[in-house]
Amino acid sequence: MTPAIRAQFPQLVSNPGVAYLDSAATSQRPQAVLDAVMTYLTSENANAARGTYPWANRTTARIAATADLVREFLGAPDESGVHFVGGTTEGLRRVALDWLLPQLRDGDEIIVPYADHSANLVPWLEAADLARRRGIEVVVLPLPYDAANDYDVARLPVGPRTRLIAATHVHHVYGNDMNVHRLRAAAPGVPICLDAAQSFGHLPISVTGLDVDFLVFSGHKAMALPGIGAVWAANRRGPRFQPAGWSGSPNTAGIVSLAAAMEWLSSVGLARISAYVTELGARLTDGLASLGSYEVLGCQSSLTAGSSVQRRHGIVTFRHRGIASNDLGFILAADGFLVRADGHCQGSEGEKTSSVRVSLHVYNTPHEVDRLLDTLAALNA
Ligand code: ALA
Repeated sequence: MTPAIRAQFPQLVSNPGVAYLDSAATSQRPQAVLDAVMTYLTSENANAARGTYPWANRTTARIAATADLVREFLGAPDESGVHFVGGTTEGLRRVALDWLLPQLRDGDEIIVPYADHSANLVPWLEAADLARRRGIEVVVLPLPYDAANDYDVARLPVGPRTRLIAATHVHHVYGNDMNVHRLRAAAPGVPICLDAAQSFGHLPISVTGLDVDFLVFSGHKAMALPGIGAVWAANRRGPRFQPAGWSGSPNTAGIVSLAAAMEWLSSVGLARISAYVTELGARLTDGLASLGSYEVLGCQSSLTAGSSVQRRHGIVTFRHRGIASNDLGFILAADGFLVRADGHCQGSEGEKTSSVRVSLHVYNTPHEVDRLLDTLAALNA
């Protein structure tokens, strides 16, 4: 990607020696997003859906326009629902407790991913637990994985009582596209709720193509501010989704940032971003494969944009065979490589020991990847 893109990220510009490699945790923000928020907060800040004066009306209109933009960004039909929430974790919980739970009946089954992010496991278990307290026994079945950590669709325990499959678009540890279209093919009538925390803003998404019922994402991993995300609801299988309760004042500045982030990402081009980041990930994967001391988690091979196997997006997670991952995280930070080194909040069937995760975005460079590989090579035993 061009230096002109990186030059739009003030935090990176003011820290030239630092390689920010933790975008799966949260992304950096381009100047255009920061400017949009500052302009809003200093020129027409007001609450939405309450006042009748121009600032309030304009804020209300901005929220509706941002919902339209989300639909457009996701290739979604006009009549589908967009509900702003704090982020993916809150959004998945809203689907679990406000949409799924009231429908559950004795003997119903749900299929959940025990090795994906805990945010996409805990809410479904909570819904089953709350049902149980009401005397309704729900069977929670694990979504099976194959040796490459893709979903093993051949062993999908789908049946006539399956009420929901919870799945992930791009895995937050292994970085692979989980091939959700294969779940849809195996379970044509079953609602699918997709955690898109690591795909929204990273690659082009078509909810029509994926044929999922819910897609939930965070803005802060996609160039927007923390504390804003959305539940997109197809409203085609089962009842319409409507979050329960009184939601209070919306996160107006967050919504402004999300609109600016989607506009910025679209102007760069999501296909271009995805291809670039995938190539960076492949460069790192290949480099690590040549260093005997490192074990890459998930698919071992280079997965380039043209791969017909699984595509790894910009997430590469690994361990050193002799250095504990937390220690390696400190060593890398001391050299200016900011990575995540822990268990990555993976669900209960996830990895049993810590690992180092490098997660890339459009502002990262091949030079940063090569410098990281040089540093890792110096630790190669
Ligand atoms: N969910 C974020 C991550 O995987 C925080 O790092």
